Amino acid sequence: MKFPLYRARRLRKNETLRSMVRENHLSLNDLIYPLFLIEGNNIKNPVKAMPGVFQYSLDRVGEEIKEIQSLGIPAVILFGIPQKKDSRGSEAYNPQGIIQKGIQAIKEVHPHLFVITDVCLCEYTDHGHCGVVDKGEIQNDPTLELLSQQAVTHVEAGADMVAPSDMMDGRVSAIRQALDGNNYSHIPIMSYAAKYASAFYGPFREAASSAPQFGDRRSHQMDPSNKREALKEVILDVEENADVVMVKPALPYLDIIHLVRENVHLPVAAYCVSGEYSMIKAAAEKGWVDYEKVMMETLVSIKRAGADLILNYMAKDAAKILNGVKIP
Ligand code: PBG
Repeated sequence: MKFPLYRARRLRKNETLRSMVRENHLSLNDLIYPLFLIEGNNIKNPVKAMPGVFQYSLDRVGEEIKEIQSLGIPAVILFGIPQKKDSRGSEAYNPQGIIQKGIQAIKEVHPHLFVITDVCLCEYTDHGHCGVVDKGEIQNDPTLELLSQQAVTHVEAGADMVAPSDMMDGRVSAIRQALDGNNYSHIPIMSYAAKYASAFYGPFREAASSAPQFGDRRSHQMDPSNKREALKEVILDVEENADVVMVKPALPYLDIIHLVRENVHLPVAAYCVSGEYSMIKAAAEKGWVDYEKVMMETLVSIKRAGADLILNYMAKDAAKILNGVKIP
């Protein structure tokens, strides 16, 4: 393989040949679309920092579900914005809470949509932290009980998979035990296994109204400088019987996605988070980058790094391209 006898450009001659030798492909089955459900009536609130993303009340979410169905997106992940918040995040595990009612509303419109729920208290606590707080500190073990109740009520309402995002120690096995104890041993857990304390979550905290009222999340989410620790966190979750492990965020952490892919045999998910989306959208709105091309390149790079599934806010636009529909 040496120039001039070997010429690498031969395989890039035209699109037919390029497609024949293409190594990675994005497909509809890779996409998981996040949805924000809000208590109230007739609400479709635009999230300012995330153009094209809305909070929906349950009487309006049907429109969105029908679009997701017509595009062939197989799965959604739900986040809830309750009317009342308190120190223990009671609405998170209320069987009549926004997510529990939301799952039923969604399944009525589209029974075969695969519904994943985010399990965490931060959207439901008045202090905005992911767990029970005592003397300014997040209490690990008392939080596990509440997360378990939250997961069980989601599954009772019809959730197909639960996704704990809180980063408390031991939550995967606590949730597994609670599900099994309630005859839900067939329900998989997708753990946010290597979740970094990232500034890229900024726009999400507006979308989910979940910004911490004091302090930050660095006592439980990971330090962005760490790599070995990601594998440690992932292996802990594998040992606790997680079914899918997630890396989050995605684009600034492609090395971590690759590392996890090389070291575990479970499906790997990557969450291309709010800030990643907002940056692409903002640059595209300014005319500085081509939205469709940057989106598709971003998504396929996450696959190339090793992700099987990509949670992302571009899923509807990507699905349109995959289906050959022009984005207006
Ligand atoms: C916690 C949760 C967060 C995200 C998903 N689940 C926020 C956080 O940890 O502060 C972020 C997702 C995104 O930025 O798109 N419930």
